[in-house]
Amino acid sequence: MRILGIETSCDETAVAVVEDGTEILSNVVASQVDIHARYGGIVPEVASRQHMLTILPVLERAMSQAKTGWQDVDAIAITFGPGLSGSLLVGVNVAKASALAQGLPLIGVNHLEAHIYANWLDDNQPLFPCLCLIVSGGHSDLVLMTGHGEYEKIGRTRDDAAGEAFDKGARILGLGYPGGPAIEAVAKNVVPSLSLPRAWLRSTDDFSFSGLKTALLHLVEGRGSLDVAWVADAAASFQQAIVEVLATKAIVAAERLGVRQILLSGGVAANTALAGYFASNCPLPFLIPRPGLCTDNAAMVAACAYYRLQAGMVDGYGLDVVPSLSDVVPSLSLS
Ligand code: KG4
Ligand code: ZN
Repeated sequence: MRILGIETSCDETAVAVVEDGTEILSNVVASQVDIHARYGGIVPEVASRQHMLTILPVLERAMSQAKTGWQDVDAIAITFGPGLSGSLLVGVNVAKASALAQGLPLIGVNHLEAHIYANWLDDNQPLFPCLCLIVSGGHSDLVLMTGHGEYEKIGRTRDDAAGEAFDKGARILGLGYPGGPAIEAVAKNVVPSLSLPRAWLRSTDDFSFSGLKTALLHLVEGRGSLDVAWVADAAASFQQAIVEVLATKAIVAAERLGVRQILLSGGVAANTALAGYFASNCPLPFLIPRPGLCTDNAAMVAACAYYRLQAGMVDGYGLDVVPSLSDVVPSLSLS
């Protein structure tokens, strides 16, 4: 079963071909990061325009790298939300037009559910029940997964997402965009020494990162000029605070729920300090997709669609974008 996946929810134009939900035949990602970096964040109109320019060449490259013609494709998978409406529309319309023209089934995929399925694109296949920690630019969710497509939301961020905190923290420190990789780079090999707060919210499985961001801002404002060594310490201390809270809360929830594994996903899961913290402190088995599968890509969309298709979940050609699609749980009732 060969699925063509398309992903345009934010600022990456991505197309992939995946066999049987696990084997990547091609995974092409055209990043717009350099274009948006000069604005310090994503400009939605620029993103959708760029998707329009890039989507067909990316589609052609993905099919040729996979040595796949339309006759070899069994279904088309497309992210329909959550995301930027103008960006989502480009991918959804290309997917619908291709599915209609080729007479192929169309499968709408929730972007967050797709992030989880990046964990199936590896030799080590996940085991149920598992606890999913989805940490991206827009979401920080803890989701209990008891089977394919079976989810229960356990916790979420009450304010900033973890990736958003990295991006805002990097901006406060005068580092580049996107903030996560920028903070990770300057924090490398630095022992954090600054005291920054952690919002534990211990009676719940929720997260909060806005107080941490404000504390960093106050530290910066109190210093006047910033030297390179202090910025590196601040970046390492900020990163450590986010990593400790994400990992500790995920591990506590996983042990309480008695799951067999923790599955990390989303752009922040590419952070090596987070992986290192899990490796040193997590008593349970955990999986982290390789970095290029943590950040936005279309292979995860195709992987997710494979299991939806197995369950008979196919969408009509009237599929529309749902920019505010909030989490993986309601997606189940949409098909
Ligand atoms: O999953 P993703 O590619 O897109 C969304 O769905 O949002 O995540 C992007 C987010 C950005 O906030 C970025 O700063 C963060 O993931 N990120 C990282 C790293 N790589 C990307 N955060 C921490 N460390 C990284 N290495
Ligand atoms: Zn994402």
